[in-house]
Amino acid sequence: MNISIVGTGYVGLVTGTCFAELGVNVTCVDTDNQKINRLIYGAIPIYEPGLENMVTRNVNDGRLRFVSDFNKGFDNMDYVFCAIDTMLDADGSTDLTPVLNIARLFGQRIDRYSVFVLKSTVPVGTAQKVKEVIACEIAERGVDVTFDIASNPDFLTEGNAIKDFMKPDRVIVGVETESAREAMARLYRTILHHIYNHVIYTDTRTAEMIKYAATSMLATRVSFMNEIANLCEIVGADVNTVRHGVGTDSRIGPKYIFPGCGYGGTLFPQDIKDLIKIAESNNFNMEVLKAVDSVNNRQKRILFEKLSSHYGGDLKDKTVALWGLSFKPETDDMSEAPSIVTIDLLMEAGCQIRVYDPVAMNAAKQRWADLYCGIDMYDAVKGADALLLLTEWRQFRIPAWDRIHQLMRTPLIIDGRNIYDRTEVESHGFEYRCIGR
Ligand SMILES: NC(=O)c1ccc[n+]([C@@H]2O[C@H](COP(=O)([O-])OP(=O)(O)OC[C@H]3O[C@@H](n4cnc5c(N)ncnc54)[C@H](O)[C@@H]3O)[C@@H](O)[C@H]2O)c1
Repeated sequence: MNISIVGTGYVGLVTGTCFAELGVNVTCVDTDNQKINRLIYGAIPIYEPGLENMVTRNVNDGRLRFVSDFNKGFDNMDYVFCAIDTMLDADGSTDLTPVLNIARLFGQRIDRYSVFVLKSTVPVGTAQKVKEVIACEIAERGVDVTFDIASNPDFLTEGNAIKDFMKPDRVIVGVETESAREAMARLYRTILHHIYNHVIYTDTRTAEMIKYAATSMLATRVSFMNEIANLCEIVGADVNTVRHGVGTDSRIGPKYIFPGCGYGGTLFPQDIKDLIKIAESNNFNMEVLKAVDSVNNRQKRILFEKLSSHYGGDLKDKTVALWGLSFKPETDDMSEAPSIVTIDLLMEAGCQIRVYDPVAMNAAKQRWADLYCGIDMYDAVKGADALLLLTEWRQFRIPAWDRIHQLMRTPLIIDGRNIYDRTEVESHGFEYRCIGR
């Protein structure tokens, strides 16, 4: 079985590598020559636990290869996955030109039955447009070759991507024909032979909608809980216990209700904007999602505001340490991370900033060349008037409080993920602020 994956980012690289691990021949194609060259020499462009070893193993075994020449990406393929990132147009809607161009190339090159699989998150109706473009190209060539399309949205979580692929809660497959359904079943049988029912087959429009609805639901839970946390602070309730009380209700469940300093990443923010736009272009107003977005934007400022209020609004020349830059642990992805908003606000306020993150400091250096990146988490707190915790990396969970107390100028901890125990932190002589308690 031969698969081509167009777009070798998070989704493409993980999907391609995992299929190779399952014995499929995979060709990963990307327009980014530099990325492809680095991959050919074994350099993995993203941090994802377990991925590097898996890539190396499958490249060495000859099942995984990386190319920037599109011709090699379409010849003799049983499936072509489109896993590229999409951009927004000036009017805020998704620019489908690159996706349709890939579909065009597919139509120009396929020489036998093949399935074009949309893995990128794309507006409802895109699979239909892709189908028309491919059919048009094949008709122009005048060749007798058949194809199918499938919508197979991705639900990986960065930091847990391999497990999400190998043991998914479910796989969503949108198809329009029985042959497409059979082809997709053949492909996913490799991972789903124990939980075969967990492929949910539907039409392509519904599959595209499921992706947006799932992401939006998760983001809604997070923003809702952040509002509850902010109200808890005002009325004197403890959001941790509120969360526990709410999350143990079996109708609600415990996931995605942790309050904090806001969500980031490429997924939640963009999917929500996309869905609002899709609704608007159909004269429908997504009121809840607009509120989710605006609550999140406000929440990203909360650590700065807590710090500013502690110092009476005057932060000039204060030294502030930040632990965690990535939008969540186990990834180096800083897209739309709360750390970006926080650092920009601290810079505007005239602070000296010292940061530490286990893997995201290179990304931070690209954004702020002069940013001081600590040698380790303790170096970052030297001389600081406050330590802000933004990402709950495991190594931050049980720090040497006495050592930190000695290193800081002012013993103030602002915990943006509620990972510390107030009594313990205060017993080491710190002032402790967190979210919703
Ligand atoms: N990252 C996630 O957690 C996640 C989860 C689920 C779904 N998605 C969706 O999957 C898609 C891909 O996301 P990602 O995070 O992997 O993006 P990414 O930015 O990490 O990678 C995209 C890759 O596609 C390449 N590319 C762009 N245009 C191309 C083209 N025309 N031809 C070939 N390659 C091209 C880029 O060079 C890049 O390497 C997006 O639609 C995203 O919304 C992402």
